[in-house]
Amino acid sequence: MKDLISQLINAFGPSGFENEVRELIAEWVRPHADELWDDAMGNLYALKKGDGSGRRIMLAAHMDQIGLIVTQIEDSGLLRFSEIGILPQKALLGQRVRFANGALGTISVDGGVKTEVLDRDLPDLAKWFVDVGATGRDDLSLGIGDVGVLMRPFEDLGKRWLAGGFDDRMGCAVLIETLQRLDSTPHDVIFTFTVQEEVGVRGARVAAYELEPDIGLAVDITPSGDLPRPTLPLAVKLGGGPSIKVMDTGMVAHPRLRQALVHIAEAHSIPYQLEVLPLGSTDAAAIQATRGGVISGAVSIPCRYSHTPSEMVDVVDVENTIRLLQAFLRGPLTSV
Ligand code: CO
Ligand code: ZN
Repeated sequence: MKDLISQLINAFGPSGFENEVRELIAEWVRPHADELWDDAMGNLYALKKGDGSGRRIMLAAHMDQIGLIVTQIEDSGLLRFSEIGILPQKALLGQRVRFANGALGTISVDGGVKTEVLDRDLPDLAKWFVDVGATGRDDLSLGIGDVGVLMRPFEDLGKRWLAGGFDDRMGCAVLIETLQRLDSTPHDVIFTFTVQEEVGVRGARVAAYELEPDIGLAVDITPSGDLPRPTLPLAVKLGGGPSIKVMDTGMVAHPRLRQALVHIAEAHSIPYQLEVLPLGSTDAAAIQATRGGVISGAVSIPCRYSHTPSEMVDVVDVENTIRLLQAFLRGPLTSV
């Protein structure tokens, strides 16, 4: 799985530009899917057929990652930018950026390191720039609208893994592993790899409309609250097991689905946590409110430093998330 996750982390895919990620995932899932297709927005679907006795289940993980987009070019060759999704402004200084054409650069801010902006609250994004080493406008391979991502490769720290973009390549990896290990299920399961989650769960909205599932489940990361002086009271801890969503700012998980997940975890002795997230949401928010409504919930992998180039997850949490999904998909789900 380390090989899979490091390939996914290395793939370039800010929201709206997920091609490379989609092609990579298609290669991994093709041997295990009964059907594989995509749609006009770029969502990728891998169907695993059931035996006809079960439900139609949509599992969703988003392929896109946060990034930046060039908005203006200075005569000096420095690039002004805007964010795709929500960038961690305090963590921007000195970060490396990679653009779609392979161009590399670093991020700095007007006034440099000693400027007062770093001691205060969020400096205006307009004050930041990317330096790709160009000597002027004519020396640039980039223009308005070119997109980039913050670089940080996958690192194995032993019990924990570190990388930029676990949100939500970790969810994608978990879905791929789950499909690979799923020998049989009563349900028609559509493993859905969505686009444009970070800019407003846009891919999941059309995917759920297209699929008409009975049950929708997003698999994403969730911020943990186990660091000193937390600004939000979050009960989720790294290493405490997959988080079963109760509520976030985009949805209240369907109580029957949440209960079913809790019962399955307990029946299989899989550690789990309940998650209430007062900041952010997942693809499940869009799935739930599609057509006449879909029974929806989410399972999250706890993650420290989310949306920074150095996100951290616990290896055992990842394994237990896959175990929980396996047990979920193998059971009859009569109570949901
Ligand atoms: Co995110
Ligand atoms: Zn996410």
